[in-house]
Amino acid sequence: MKKNILITGGAGFIGCHVVKLLVNNYPNYNIINMDKLTYAGNLENLKEIENHPNYKFVKADICDIDKVKEVFETYTVDSVIHLAAESHVDRSITNPFEFAQTNILGTLTLLNQAKNSWLNDLEDKLFYHISTDEVYGSLGDTGLFLEDTPYDPKSPYSAAKASSDHFVRAYNNTYGLPVVITNCSNNYGPNQFPEKLIPLFINNIQNKKPLPVYGKGENIRDWLYVEDHARAIDIVFHKGRNGETYNIGGFNEWKNIDLIKVICKVMDKKLGREIGESEQLITYVKDRAGHDMRYAIDSTKISEELGWNPSLQFEEGIEKTINWYLQNKDWLENIISGDYQEYYNKQYNLR
Ligand code: NAD
Ligand code: DAU
Repeated sequence: MKKNILITGGAGFIGCHVVKLLVNNYPNYNIINMDKLTYAGNLENLKEIENHPNYKFVKADICDIDKVKEVFETYTVDSVIHLAAESHVDRSITNPFEFAQTNILGTLTLLNQAKNSWLNDLEDKLFYHISTDEVYGSLGDTGLFLEDTPYDPKSPYSAAKASSDHFVRAYNNTYGLPVVITNCSNNYGPNQFPEKLIPLFINNIQNKKPLPVYGKGENIRDWLYVEDHARAIDIVFHKGRNGETYNIGGFNEWKNIDLIKVICKVMDKKLGREIGESEQLITYVKDRAGHDMRYAIDSTKISEELGWNPSLQFEEGIEKTINWYLQNKDWLENIISGDYQEYYNKQYNLR
């Protein structure tokens, strides 16, 4: 079947892997990537598919009502995979309004256009919203987030994502818009912007710069290789049931400090340094405000209902990730010049 799929945020970290997977695997689908190209969006991520006949890039803001309408009409959009968002928790602490604008109002703008465009014929239409496990709040020592865990967002980022999830469900309930939502755990892999823990630390180790560990480094995250997430998105897009939520995770929990020590060890080996050298760069810094202690996902539903499971062991995934960053130093160099340097100095008090 032919499809015209609007992917938002396709120039970002997860988005570029989703775009590449769908462009390569479904030549009869038209993939329209709409991205504002904020600091986090990078067309370099899409070089290998940019000239494919089934791919089109549109530079636009998801909050721009007229532009969103134009894109829906020009490309006869029949499905949306919505990833565009402000995604970094630390930035949401210093600039919550930007997060409310993009994550809530941007999502609402897309939902409303989908409703207007599809109202007379909802057959084969889908609004697929990509969300996060952070909407469920923070766990204690035990337990896992399930699809029916009550929402309890605790940062401006997760509050904005939670609000957007509620709007998606409200459009399903009120207007009958066909929707599906997935809530995923922490992703890692190639093309992640180096403000996030893993690429930041890989970059700092390379450059022998301090590794800023928030608090005591005891917070726990559940890590999933980004291509496994993209594969899950493909499966949910094709097989997910209308109105349903699916949690996606790696069953792969790591205490930050333990994860950091693994990265240090692998990097020491790859850079021909003495084992233990990079660990000396670990520097404990002031904790993130309102820092969630633990996230962990139960992804039994997507596994049993749709047959998705993570494919990569963490040891293999982290090795692939580090290799990618070491082989793509130009990609990193281009990003960490300019505005990012400004952000970095402010965030880590390096003025
Ligand atoms: P990212 O920050 O790397 O990329 C976001 C993309 O959205 C960028 O290309 C940016 O230019 C674009 N964008 C931002 N504001 C826009 C706007 N107003 N209009 C159009 N485009 C805009 O984010 P990511 O890590 O790839 O996350 C993608 C999605 O997945 C987000 O919705 C995020 O909440 C969700 N998510 C991320 C993770 C993770 O670990 N990274 C985990 C679970 C869910
Ligand atoms: O759980 C899914 C979420 O994972 C996504 O929704 C977010 O978009 C994504 O950014 C990520 O959020 P986190 O806050 O968990 O990721 P981050 O890489 O920023 O931090 C991971 C952990 O590492 C967290 O406990 C904070 C800690 N940390 C982070 C940075 C940047 C540090 O100790 N030092 C740092 O410098």
